[in-house]
Amino acid sequence: MTPRHFLDIADLSREELRAILDEAHARKAARLDWPKAKRDEDAPLEGYALAMIFQKNSTRTRVSFEVAMTQLGGHTISLSAADTQLGRGETVQDTARVLARMVDCVMIRANAHDDVLSYATASAIPVINGLTDLSHPCQILADVMTIEEWSGDIAGKSVAWLGDGNNVCMSFVHAAEKLGFTLRIATPAAYAPRTQEIAAARAAGADVSISVDPHTAIANADVVVTDTWVSMGDTDKDARLAAFPPYAINEAMMARAAKDAMFLHCLPAHRGEEVTDAVIDGARSAVWDEAENRIHAQKAVLMWCLGKL
Ligand code: CP
Ligand code: NVA
Repeated sequence: MTPRHFLDIADLSREELRAILDEAHARKAARLDWPKAKRDEDAPLEGYALAMIFQKNSTRTRVSFEVAMTQLGGHTISLSAADTQLGRGETVQDTARVLARMVDCVMIRANAHDDVLSYATASAIPVINGLTDLSHPCQILADVMTIEEWSGDIAGKSVAWLGDGNNVCMSFVHAAEKLGFTLRIATPAAYAPRTQEIAAARAAGADVSISVDPHTAIANADVVVTDTWVSMGDTDKDARLAAFPPYAINEAMMARAAKDAMFLHCLPAHRGEEVTDAVIDGARSAVWDEAENRIHAQKAVLMWCLGKL
C-alpha cells in the first residue's frame, strides 16, 4: 500500500485538508492550559516513532514536531543530516529503506524539493515535508488555522503576500487552490513565485494575482503576510536587501489593509527588514499564535499520515 505522504497541500483533497484543520482545532481546544508534554486523553500515536532529518536549521519545526508527537503519545528522533551517513554519501533511497524498518514516519527539512520526492518514492512509511526550497506546507496549515481562529472561515477572505515569492509563499498558493481565498502576491519581478506552479494552481481554480505593486496587493486585505527576504540557501543577499525595501510591512503599509487586518509571519523575523517592531509586536500581529499552532496542525498531519484520521 502506498503510504500517505504529506509533501504539499496541493496533493490533498479539500475534504482531507478540512479534516486535518478541524482535528487541529479540536485537539487544541481539548487541552487548553495543560502542561505542554502531557499526553492527550486518547494518545492516538502511542507506540509510534517519528524520525526527523534536518539539512537546514530549525527552531519551530523541530520543537513543534517533538511536542506534537509527545502529546499524541509517540516518540521522536531528531537527526542532523550532516551527522548521518547521508552526510557521507549514503543514498536517500537506502536511507529511506532503513528508516522504514526502524520508525513509523519521517519528517524531512531539505535543501532540494526533489530530494524529498525521491525519498518519498523509496519510502514504505509516510514522509512529511518540513520545508524545502519549493514549499513549506506544515507552516501554511498553521497559518490557515490561525486565520480561522482570529477571523473565522478563510473562504472569501483576501490574503496579501508582500516580499519574496519563496517556499512559504508557494504553499499559500497551494492553499488558495483548496480553500477558496483570494491571494494577492507582490514581489520584485526577479523574485516572483515560479510561473509553472502558479499556472497549475490557477488551472485548479486558485484566485491568485501576481504583481510588482505592494500597494495594490495590500489594499483592503484581510490578512497581510510576509517572510524573510533572504531564505536559507539564498546566496544573493546583497541584491535581495537592495530589491525588497518597498515591500516592507510597516505601520503605513498596514494602514492600507482592511481596518482589522491581521499580520502573519512564519518566523524567524528580521526586524527592521521585512517587518517593523511596531507591526510584529502590535495588536494585529498573530505571529505567536501562528507559531504555537505549528504543534496543533502537525498533530493532525501526523494522525492523517498514520491512518488515524
Ligand atoms: N517557521 C519555521 O519553520 O521555523 P523554523 O525554521 O524555526 O523551523
Ligand atoms: N523562507 C524561509 C522560511 C523559514 C522558516 C526559509 O526558507 O529560510
